Amino acid sequence: MATVLLILGVLASSGAFALPAARQLSASCNLTEARLQVPANQTQLIAPTVAPAFVALGLGVQNYTCNATSSTYVLTGAVAELFDSSCLYGTPVFDTAPALAYTAWDATTGLVTPQDVIAALSIVPLPVVLGQHYYVPNPAGSGLSPKWDFTSSGGTYGNTAAYAVGAKIGDLPSPDTKLNIDSLMVKVVEGNLASEIFRVQNNGGQPPASCTSASQNVSVKYTAQYWFFGGSITPNSIVI
Ligand SMILES: *[C@@H]1O[C@H](CO)[C@@H](O)[C@H](O)[C@H]1NC(C)=O
Ligand SMILES: *[C@@H]1O[C@H](CO)[C@@H](O)[C@H](O)[C@H]1NC(C)=O
Ligand SMILES: *[C@@H]1O[C@H](CO)[C@@H](O)[C@H](O)[C@H]1NC(C)=O
Ligand SMILES: *[C@@H]1O[C@H](CO)[C@@H](O)[C@H](O)[C@H]1NC(C)=O
Ligand SMILES: *[C@@H]1O[C@H](CO)[C@@H](O)[C@H](O)[C@H]1NC(C)=O
Repeated sequence: MATVLLILGVLASSGAFALPAARQLSASCNLTEARLQVPANQTQLIAPTVAPAFVALGLGVQNYTCNATSSTYVLTGAVAELFDSSCLYGTPVFDTAPALAYTAWDATTGLVTPQDVIAALSIVPLPVVLGQHYYVPNPAGSGLSPKWDFTSSGGTYGNTAAYAVGAKIGDLPSPDTKLNIDSLMVKVVEGNLASEIFRVQNNGGQPPASCTSASQNVSVKYTAQYWFFGGSITPNSIVI
């Protein structure tokens, strides 16, 4: 733990995360000018031409269990903490934050939480937790569906409609597909938080290539950038 915090301290003091002073004071910034960029020459991710309602830096784990028949891991869910990264938009740190946070998060063990990592790195100003990401039973059928839940945190605290359950509609593998999980475009099937959600700038999260025994489970750390579009939720936060 002490070693990990020391490493984080060194990373934080390296200057890589320096931000304009005014931006450090706010937790949530005006996203009117923000636009999602997606890679050229692919049809899986179609970027909306409008501003997002929220952008988040996510730190968490992807969980897998072993399918002994195919000797491969299958996804059983994910858990992540989502930090407001709106004030980083327009700075070089916005797109490098997921990789910087991943290096630190992946180096941690045991009881170190995503909050500890974010606080030590100081890459997100006044780190506000927008919400949590986890899986729930698919509301329309079998299996599990991803959920983004902003009902218990940040400026949407107490708003019971501030969540989204999604279904994947686009999937673009990472250039380093052995290490990094795919970029996703998700349509929202339940909740008012958003109508469309994107997971991009993915780091880590992929399971080992093979496994041997049934119910052998792994949790693999990952970070990503999440974009939330549409929806009808107005947060009670200070926007500069
Ligand atoms: C956000 O910025 C836009 C221009 O970029 C401005 O028109 C709008 O009033 C701002 N919204 C708030 C709440 O400050
Ligand atoms: C996209 O495809 C076009 C036509 O094949 C090509 O000219 C262009 O360089 C490609 N762009 C990228 C970023 O790969
Ligand atoms: C496990 O792998 C087998 C063989 O590929 C496949 O038929 C089966 O559907 C898989 N089970 C699950 C739960 O993914
Ligand atoms: C994922 O694994 C973590 C522990 O690594 C656990 O806390 C969490 O409950 C698991 N979540 C799911 C959905 O499997
Ligand atoms: C592994 O994960 C599966 C699916 O989440 C669960 O049913 C099983 O109990 C877990 N096994 C162990 C040993 O934790």
